[in-house]
Amino acid sequence: MNSPLRLADAHPGPAFTVTLDGRAIEALPGQTVAAALWTAGVTSWRTTRGEGRPRGVFCGIGVCYDCLVTVNSRPNQRACLVPLHPGDTIRTQEGTGHDD
Ligand code: FES
Repeated sequence: MNSPLRLADAHPGPAFTVTLDGRAIEALPGQTVAAALWTAGVTSWRTTRGEGRPRGVFCGIGVCYDCLVTVNSRPNQRACLVPLHPGDTIRTQEGTGHDD
């Protein structure tokens, strides 16, 4: 079976570990937060301010801001754009991510 890595003939470096709400998740060098979460089977990681509706990736190119997430204690990071590094901590986000 073909995988995206095989189709692109990609040879990434060794995988490393990040966490999502304390749960260990494997990521590859250059992978965005969104790509790593999708690979781990996570498709939503934020809830909207008004009605608490689940959100994840919508546009995938940094335009819609649906994918906001907290990375290393910094809220409102676009998961589809932020590359991961070993030991990064990701937290799901409610509303603005500022405890309001
Ligand atoms: S999915 Fe649209 S900004 Fe990230």
